Amino acid sequence: IYGAERKASSGPNILIESEWGPFAEQVNAYLNQCWQADPIIAGKTVAGTALHSDVRSPADRDNLVGQVTYASEGQVIEAIDAAERFLPTWQQTAVTERADALRRLADLLEAHLEEFVALCHQEAGKTIQDSIDEVREAVDFCRYYPARAEELFSEHLDLHRLDGGLAKWQRQGRGIFVCISPWNFPLAIFLGQVGAALVAGNCVIAKPAEQTSLIAARAIELMLEAGIPGGAIQFLPGDGATVGAALTADPRIAGVAFTGSTETAQRINRALSLRDGADAREPATLIAETGGQNAMIVDSTALPEQVVKDAVLSGFASAGQRCSALRVLCLQSDIAERIIELLKGAMAELRIGDPALPSTDIGPVIDESAQSGLLAHIERMKEYAKLLAQTPLPGKAKRGTFVPPTAVEIDRIDQIGREQFGPIIHVLRYEARHLDQLIDQINAAGYGLTLGIHSRNERTAAHIEARARIGNTYINRNQIGAVVGVQPFGGQGLSGTGPKAGGPHYLPRFTRLIPTNAQ
Ligand code: SER
Repeated sequence: IYGAERKASSGPNILIESEWGPFAEQVNAYLNQCWQADPIIAGKTVAGTALHSDVRSPADRDNLVGQVTYASEGQVIEAIDAAERFLPTWQQTAVTERADALRRLADLLEAHLEEFVALCHQEAGKTIQDSIDEVREAVDFCRYYPARAEELFSEHLDLHRLDGGLAKWQRQGRGIFVCISPWNFPLAIFLGQVGAALVAGNCVIAKPAEQTSLIAARAIELMLEAGIPGGAIQFLPGDGATVGAALTADPRIAGVAFTGSTETAQRINRALSLRDGADAREPATLIAETGGQNAMIVDSTALPEQVVKDAVLSGFASAGQRCSALRVLCLQSDIAERIIELLKGAMAELRIGDPALPSTDIGPVIDESAQSGLLAHIERMKEYAKLLAQTPLPGKAKRGTFVPPTAVEIDRIDQIGREQFGPIIHVLRYEARHLDQLIDQINAAGYGLTLGIHSRNERTAAHIEARARIGNTYINRNQIGAVVGVQPFGGQGLSGTGPKAGGPHYLPRFTRLIPTNAQ
């Protein structure tokens, strides 16, 4: 049936072999496939509810990529029951065994690189380069967390008691962890969350973003193939209102790892604390990675060409759909005109469109709802902001959910309102003597995720870094693409609870200490 529907649709964009080399043929082989995501409980695919949704490519809404069937509320309970039954076994499984399974998953992901590139490209509308980066980052998480887990679980924890004996402790997974992942890194963040929770000894219930369930479903199949037991990983595609709400209402959930909007994180936090029967248990752990109103502060000593290169990449790469992306470009007035002129020139050169072409810089945004929200914001900004530049969309872009990269000039950060998750840079001029007020204005927005600083004056850079309330600072470079194991990533304030993903402090939050000699 899907094949028949597929023929009626316009079909996928094919990678051109002369541009991509032999890699194209291998990716193309997967582009005609129709994918399917169903709930997976205790290692078995189960029939979902009658509720289902067609998945269409963001680059071409006529291109049917697959279908997702949603889990029911009853299946949420079945999944929690299955996780509860398997928990003692998984907690007692040696950490090396859990780590080896995740490393085998990393090997499998590498072996299936072309398939996941095709899938990320089709379902999430990513450019081919972004899709390759996505798979690489997922592999990094699946190698990094096992190595950290083996270190963490072999830490020496014994203490000398007053009576001369030893008080012995050991680390244990917290229990059942729910992982709610975002669509902007549908494989990397999905496997980062799930992999960390699993290797730390938790049974996991994974609920992927509605928009990217197919990628997550395929990753779960590979997890099972890698030897992660079906009892340890349950998969529940579905919407937040049904599946997410039923999960966070259950008192048996020990923790939630969530990446997405600040508003949803706040809703989850409230739901976890209001659960019936939860007062008899320890409070659930919430690990939330949320949004940002990320600024780049540029002083008059900065190199204009470098600033523009880094601003364009930080603001527009992945169509601005990164939580780390640049939203507010703050230019010291002495250098502002020069940089704005260069920015206009750089934006005129950007290529938007078919994400299958190597020459494409910017692909579509994820769906119609994102597109209409961003376009409405651009219209709203025109009322009190100056439109500096807007890269026109090519004609073919009408088939997908594209948003033109846009730069507007504002007077104050609070004119932006909530985070705009797309290719829009707000430019703000400031006077050198008002630098501290500018930093305070950035802090006052309440977020604290990434900050770019462009200055050749080390003291200025150090001063900005110290005064800003921020998760990750990037000096004289772009501010996206934190590397696992090298740049632990995560914010503070409205941007998240910490601990930073891809860093040494992430795994301990998924564990607790238990006594082993009852003293
Ligand atoms: N880890 C990602 C980045 O640094 C989050 O968006 O861009």
